[in-house]
Amino acid sequence: MRHAIANEIEVVESVREYLASQERKSLLRFLTCGSVDDGKSTLIGRLLSDTKQIFEDQLAALERDSRKHGTTGEDVDFALLVDGLEAEREQGITIDVAYRFFATAKRKFIVADTPGHEQYTRNMATGASTADLAIVLVDARQGVLRQTRRHSIIASLLGIKHIVVAINKIDLVDFSQEAFDKITADYQAFAESLGFKSIVPIPMSARFGDNVTRRSEKMGWYSGPTLLEHLESVVVEEDAVAQAFRFPVQYVNRPNLDFRGFAGTVASGSISQGDEIVVAKSGKASRVRRIVAHGGDLRTAVAGQAITLVLEDEVEVSRGNVLVTPGSRPHVADQFAANVVWFDEKALLPGRSYILRTESDQASATVTDLKYRINVNDFAHEAAKSLEMNEVGVCNISTQSPVAFDNFADNRTTGAFILIDRISNATVGAGMILHPLRRAENIHWQSLDVTRKARADLKNQSPKVLWFTGLSGSGKSTVANLLERKLHAAGRHTYILDGDNVRHGLNRDLGFTDEDRVENIRRVAEVAKLMADAGLIVIVSFISPFRAERRMARELMGTGEFVEVFVDTPFEECAKRDTKGLYARALSGAIKNFTGVDSPYETPENPEIHLQTLGRTPEEMVETIENWLNERDVAEHQFDDGGGI
Ligand code: ADX
Repeated sequence: MRHAIANEIEVVESVREYLASQERKSLLRFLTCGSVDDGKSTLIGRLLSDTKQIFEDQLAALERDSRKHGTTGEDVDFALLVDGLEAEREQGITIDVAYRFFATAKRKFIVADTPGHEQYTRNMATGASTADLAIVLVDARQGVLRQTRRHSIIASLLGIKHIVVAINKIDLVDFSQEAFDKITADYQAFAESLGFKSIVPIPMSARFGDNVTRRSEKMGWYSGPTLLEHLESVVVEEDAVAQAFRFPVQYVNRPNLDFRGFAGTVASGSISQGDEIVVAKSGKASRVRRIVAHGGDLRTAVAGQAITLVLEDEVEVSRGNVLVTPGSRPHVADQFAANVVWFDEKALLPGRSYILRTESDQASATVTDLKYRINVNDFAHEAAKSLEMNEVGVCNISTQSPVAFDNFADNRTTGAFILIDRISNATVGAGMILHPLRRAENIHWQSLDVTRKARADLKNQSPKVLWFTGLSGSGKSTVANLLERKLHAAGRHTYILDGDNVRHGLNRDLGFTDEDRVENIRRVAEVAKLMADAGLIVIVSFISPFRAERRMARELMGTGEFVEVFVDTPFEECAKRDTKGLYARALSGAIKNFTGVDSPYETPENPEIHLQTLGRTPEEMVETIENWLNERDVAEHQFDDGGGI
């Protein structure tokens, strides 16, 4: 009996020991890139199968399939295996990267397989964002191609430091050392400026397994490692554990009144009981009392572990904050420079507001300056006004509130962010922070004694921004003008910002491209905000054709201050009236980018006031607005006792 228990304990112990040894094995994340025909799928299939990751039944099925559909005759077509698994990725449009896990006695691996088409920069960016190493596949017959260069440049931008140049299909050039040497030399010459720490060229045939996991007998001239040997032994010195401690707080865990902890995953470094920590944004300090993990309390936690930290003091740590080590703090700033990779079909437009999300935080953000685009084929810097899908650029970014971050070169987790479209909620870009902007450090908010409320009270009104949007010639200015006259006569303090007028002064440098319209609206929204701050009722009358900018303007103003007025006149009617003769010229092609002709107008979805103008007089429409304002303002200020304004 005793014996049996002892035995059982022994078994449990050895299982534990085994699991622990798996835990201790280091993890290498890598991705494969190259053209579709370079043999990526075959290589991954070969790696998985030779390291016994394919179960016997899968292998049997594969052999059957290969005979049916394969391109390799009697041999197993490994590409079929990987491609078969690709079906799952077709289900979700956003996940274009397949991740696979495998392990050998020495190491654990996660491999990201990214599609190789020219336009798939974004997928590569997704797969590479956490990778330590990239295998760049080159067809031995073709040598270094545009695609090879492109992927290598992107890998370097994404912070990958180690490259394997897999010179594949070497069997098709008779295992030629000459071919190998030439490609190696070409690649090294090209990659010199990309800052890789290691570039290891390996001649191989993924199809036949030469130098993948088994040393080839056909290349006596090659004395380097096989691919697997290299993957098992390469030292990726950017060991997350050795870096400064960063703990982005995901949420505050408070199951009852006696427990309050901060939950998240250690992004880098390590933390032990009793260590001092600082809240990045507030600078408040405390000490770690407990480190709570799934199986119980820990003495120490390291990068990658999910934990809940209990602190000695009741410090305020909101979601979006980062707990850090006092000796090495991150930047806290609202302006920084970054490399941005653009994913979306709609171009990145400077001045447009996006949501910027870091590992823990979120803020409204705009690109204030697109400094240049990076040509990913030759690394050249090119002037650009916007970034199209799959393009990469260097930008200055400004966030509405400060965020805590590191430079990407120092920390790939806390130095990265994504950009999200405010309307569609899609991830439209990814960024790598280069450095905070000095000017942000030197400009602070000045506190002023006369408040916006005091200014408004003196005028005995609540500030408003009445935002008129609609096609050119829809009647915005006419209605706005009449409304102001009536407000003015009723003793209100008002101002009209009119597109045509503002474009003569403040915005005279802007034209009618999408980029310029975004900037036009950004500026006028900022001006309207200042005027509302001054206590005025501001009437803005701009086409303002894009939803994103109208929403940005709305969010800039105080709650309830922004009133969207859609002056809804059908295009045909505007073109018929054509008071300025612009429609005739636009329709004949003499004016480019004309709203409604060859530049879009995005109809408001939920305007506060919707004015259908057909068959209605300006007076009637102004009355609609007055009524709306009176209803809203009843509790605060009556516009006047007589019911009108
Ligand atoms: S917006 O799109 O950027 O909001 P804004 O309201 O400032 O436009 O200016 C529109 C006015 O500029 C129109 O009423 C019209 O008189 C004039 N205009 C000149 N060219 C164009 C154009 N290509 N598209 C629209 N309006 C134009």
